[in-house]
Amino acid sequence: MKGLILSGGAGTRLRPITHTSAKQLVPIANKPILFYGIEAMARAGIREIGIIVGSTREEIKTAVGDGSQFGVKVTYIPQEEPLGLAHCVLIADKFLGDDDFIMYLGDNMLEQGLEEFVTEFETARASSDKDKPAAQILLCHVEDPRQFGVAEVDKNGHVVRLVEKPKDPPSDLALVGVYLFDKTINKAVRSIKPSPRGELEITDAIQWLVDNKFSVRHKVLQGWWIDTGKKDPLLECNRLVLDAMKTKLEGTVDAVSEIQGRVTIEAGAKVTNSRIRGPVVIGAGAVIEDSYIGPYTSLGKNCRVVKSEMDHSVVLDGSSIVGVSRLTDSLIGKDVEVIRSTQQPRALRLMLGDDSKVELE
Ligand code: TTP
Repeated sequence: MKGLILSGGAGTRLRPITHTSAKQLVPIANKPILFYGIEAMARAGIREIGIIVGSTREEIKTAVGDGSQFGVKVTYIPQEEPLGLAHCVLIADKFLGDDDFIMYLGDNMLEQGLEEFVTEFETARASSDKDKPAAQILLCHVEDPRQFGVAEVDKNGHVVRLVEKPKDPPSDLALVGVYLFDKTINKAVRSIKPSPRGELEITDAIQWLVDNKFSVRHKVLQGWWIDTGKKDPLLECNRLVLDAMKTKLEGTVDAVSEIQGRVTIEAGAKVTNSRIRGPVVIGAGAVIEDSYIGPYTSLGKNCRVVKSEMDHSVVLDGSSIVGVSRLTDSLIGKDVEVIRSTQQPRALRLMLGDDSKVELE
């Protein structure tokens, strides 16, 4: 089975921390969102992965490379414009050939691994069952289905209808951004027309399979799922991922510092005279001095936190926080300085990028 990861579109509403960066490379617990999908595929035994890339292709190529860091072989498939998820299948035809594949939206994160879904689909496909599936979709119970693609499932577990963002949802089962297909989907994506928003929709292609009597099965997901394109995602996602993290201490911690709970301190990071209360991840080469780092904080590589107290925050690589008495629920980009100044006159001196937000006490 092959893998297809979609990272091309501009459609997702997750704001990158800087405007030039790919949204799928925003780090959650110090790891780009996209890497979670690649790793999940690798763990499920997928070795050949095609990645759909759009305007941020260079950045994605630099981060992912040839895939060897994940034990997979990556083929990049350029998409000139985000013309829809089904369009991605259409342009990946050379890469996919007639193989079965798993398609993964690069901005989705799931708690559950993919092994079970892949094995089940492969087993069903290898059977002599006449009703063997042409597709298997993943569904998740959600509170407000109106903002998702929603599935209607009959009592035998077959998918009978898919509706995109229904005003009056037929169920609370939202379509998760992970799909398994056999080659029939290639015909489906060529048979459908663009939707009113001008995209070839994967929901329409799956509906085509249903309407043409191909079997579409479903599984209901266990554990959390975040479509990072949908809600205030980063701090929430960071919280979920850190909650599942294990302790790993590779950096150095001096004798007077106190580490509580699950904390990852990466190689070369140095903690002195500080208290760290997990779950927390501290990136390689970071320096923490005379500070308190509280729960649900991710500090990127080479960050510096000195004489400060912070929690519930994500700080990207190379940033410094010095003399800040209480920083919470904050998202700080790369190479940013947040510093208490002793300069006169006493005043706030800010240099903020586009779309920044500062809340003062
Ligand atoms: P989104 O635009 O979030 O797709 P969606 O259908 O989930 O969004 P909506 O809520 O508007 O229905 O994109 C999901 C992922 O797929 C994201 O990583 C970008 C990628 N993508 C492509 O690679 N090519 C495309 O043409 C589109 C639309 C998305």
